[in-house]
Amino acid sequence: MKHLISLYDLTLEDINEIFELSEKLKRQLKEGVEHKLLKNKTLGMIFTKSSTRTRVSFEVGMYQLGGYPLFLSSNDIQLGRGETIYDTAQVLSRYLDGIMIRTFAHSDVEELATHGSIPIINGLTDLMHPCQILTDLFTIYEHKGELKGLKLAYVGDGNNIANSLLHGCAKVGMDISVASPKGYECDKNIVAEAQKDAEVSGSKIVLTEDPYVAVKDADVIYTDTWVSMGQEAEKEERIKIFMPYQVNSDLFSKAKEDAIFLHCLPAYRDYEVTSDIIDGSQSLVFDEAENRLHVQKAIMVKLMA
Ligand code: CP
Ligand code: NVA
Repeated sequence: MKHLISLYDLTLEDINEIFELSEKLKRQLKEGVEHKLLKNKTLGMIFTKSSTRTRVSFEVGMYQLGGYPLFLSSNDIQLGRGETIYDTAQVLSRYLDGIMIRTFAHSDVEELATHGSIPIINGLTDLMHPCQILTDLFTIYEHKGELKGLKLAYVGDGNNIANSLLHGCAKVGMDISVASPKGYECDKNIVAEAQKDAEVSGSKIVLTEDPYVAVKDADVIYTDTWVSMGQEAEKEERIKIFMPYQVNSDLFSKAKEDAIFLHCLPAYRDYEVTSDIIDGSQSLVFDEAENRLHVQKAIMVKLMA
């Protein structure tokens, strides 16, 4: 594992190793044990989109590991004024030990990895959000004690989160049902990749327009915003189209009785999820957000130590 760009590139062993290390780092942090596994290493963090969790969890994680995080907003670096990815990759590879990047085009992240000589971590693109989904799977594992054989239902936009959930669930052998309206389905290439992995892991993939079909007997219900970063101009239209996909008490009651609710956050209450569900006792959204820290520390150690 040289980079973390797409979950499809990871083996099941990589994922298990990341989870074991995440568990250990989380426990040690709570026990007050220092783990300076990245002493004197520097991580550049390029952001061309907003962030709360990704920025703070990577930045704090790097400090806790004894390293130095460098926040690089595209408003400030020359990349935002037209310097090429090629030149940026060449130059930053001379200073840094790793780069985390959040941007629009997935191909920019791939290009950075091709032309640089240091590990690249995808901190979200229009197509994928692998760090988030590794964290989600870790959170499910913590609460359910297993992954294989569980069923996750994703209800809403077939966006970066849904795409990476397909990759992740298929890899670990979880069944996944995605309910999204016509025209807002998951990426076709990613569906094909997930289907290949599902054949190996034994997971079942269902793609439907009906949220009630998706949530039936689910162990995990997951949703995300209907308006991802960059889609603000489509907001009104999207809200109308997605309203039947709201995760509310009626829809939630069709899942298993002990189903958990996950959301990558930021959430828009009473749009994609009602307040009673996200603030209810079966919601794990803040455990999930906390786990970004522990899981990403494990990813950084695996790539940069
Ligand atoms: N879930 C997530 O990536 O949140 P941020 O956009 O706040 O980083
Ligand atoms: N789908 C959302 C996820 C935010 C973490 C977006 O891309 O804006």
